[in-house]
Amino acid sequence: MMQNAKTGAQRASWSGKWAFILAAAASAVGLGNLWRFPYLAAKYGGGVFLLTYLVLVLTFGVSMVLLETALGRRTRLSVIGAFRFFGAKFTFIGVLGAAVPFIITPYYCIIGGWVTKYAVGYIANGPAALADGGDFFTGFISSNVESYLWMFVFMAAVFIVVSLGVQKGIEKANLIMMPALIIMAIGIALFTLTLPGALDGAAYYIVPDFSKFSPELVINALGQMFYSLSIAMGIMITYGSYMRKEDSLTSSVTRIAGFDFGVSFLAGLMIVPAAFVALGSAEAVAGNAGPSLMFIILPQVFNTLDPSFATVVGFLFFLLVLFAALTSAVSLTEALVSIVCDGTRLSRGKSLTITIVFIVIVGVVVNAGYNSLSFIEPLGAGSSLLDFMDFISNSVLMPIMAILTCVFVGWIIKPKPLVDEIEISSEFKAEKAWVAMIKYIAPILIAAILITNVLPFIIG
Ligand code: PHE
Repeated sequence: MMQNAKTGAQRASWSGKWAFILAAAASAVGLGNLWRFPYLAAKYGGGVFLLTYLVLVLTFGVSMVLLETALGRRTRLSVIGAFRFFGAKFTFIGVLGAAVPFIITPYYCIIGGWVTKYAVGYIANGPAALADGGDFFTGFISSNVESYLWMFVFMAAVFIVVSLGVQKGIEKANLIMMPALIIMAIGIALFTLTLPGALDGAAYYIVPDFSKFSPELVINALGQMFYSLSIAMGIMITYGSYMRKEDSLTSSVTRIAGFDFGVSFLAGLMIVPAAFVALGSAEAVAGNAGPSLMFIILPQVFNTLDPSFATVVGFLFFLLVLFAALTSAVSLTEALVSIVCDGTRLSRGKSLTITIVFIVIVGVVVNAGYNSLSFIEPLGAGSSLLDFMDFISNSVLMPIMAILTCVFVGWIIKPKPLVDEIEISSEFKAEKAWVAMIKYIAPILIAAILITNVLPFIIG
């Protein structure tokens, strides 16, 4: 337990530096890496997306994770409190940041439900049933009973872990699931690469073709980076607030970002070449790449194997995705509980109950977007409520939140308090570059991207 800088309140803490790194990495590595990154890479030209993404993570991503964890550790508060700490008039930035996980968590649990269904499906229905070109998937998500059921199963698992608390629940779960995830990811990537035709896919994924570069690619890479690193929504502020003063922020942050990128890279290496095998050409892959890449194309690839082998590979694959999704959903829920707790001063138990009620209600509504409410198409024909939630959080709110955070730290409170916080636990060699990033490069870059890409979309 540690004391909060202003209120003196006791708060939970990580048992050590590695527990923090593991927890932050477990929060970062999730559906964003395994489900979202590969379909974006496939859609936006493969190698050129991968390269843009890598550059963004190394410059801007690392800087933002460092900023947020330092802010959290300095104030010992989660997102809203952390901003209010510097003056009541800044509370709104925290509120905006806090809004993001409230939007993401319910739809995250829906996709978590799909993954659970598929993992079980390999055993219960067999690999052929899942590889029928999309009917199985559409039938499932549009069902009025089953799709809800699996969403609830996933939610229940998440709520149990969170209810056990930071050290007993979150740390233990991560310790088991993260190493298992890495082993499975490497194994499946190696396996996909042995499929006939997969190497062409690997080349598409790795070698950049700069003619495919576009502003749309950049906004998507940026939105993906926020989502994947769990930044611009207060999660890392909360996690930083549980960190001990003696543990180095700089080295933890580089490890987290490196790890997260590594898993995204591996996920692309599993999935993009597999899509190539199934679809044959770069154009077909880019044209078919979307949220359903994992649930429609991939099972077709697995189904080309001997059935018992396909069952094992398919099951292990979706189990891996499930582990990644669970640890992230746990971190999202934990952040919500912490926001409700700090905001209402209710006990952790009561805050958890409020959070659960919220997630369940919104989850049900968004899931209805695929069945009873499917007539609502917020982003144009064929779009769903889930697409809308994803767009609002990743392409609109997170960039705005990121700009506000950078301006807040760079120009209002000035970087000094955070630089001091970082230097408590380690040397800060990149200080100048970091300050330049926070004050100038990041806000200008994001604003430019936001204006050119999102505004026309909203205005129509
Ligand atoms: N970063 C997680 C992922 O890549 C998603 C997430 C977002 C988790 C926000 C926590 C907070 O899937």
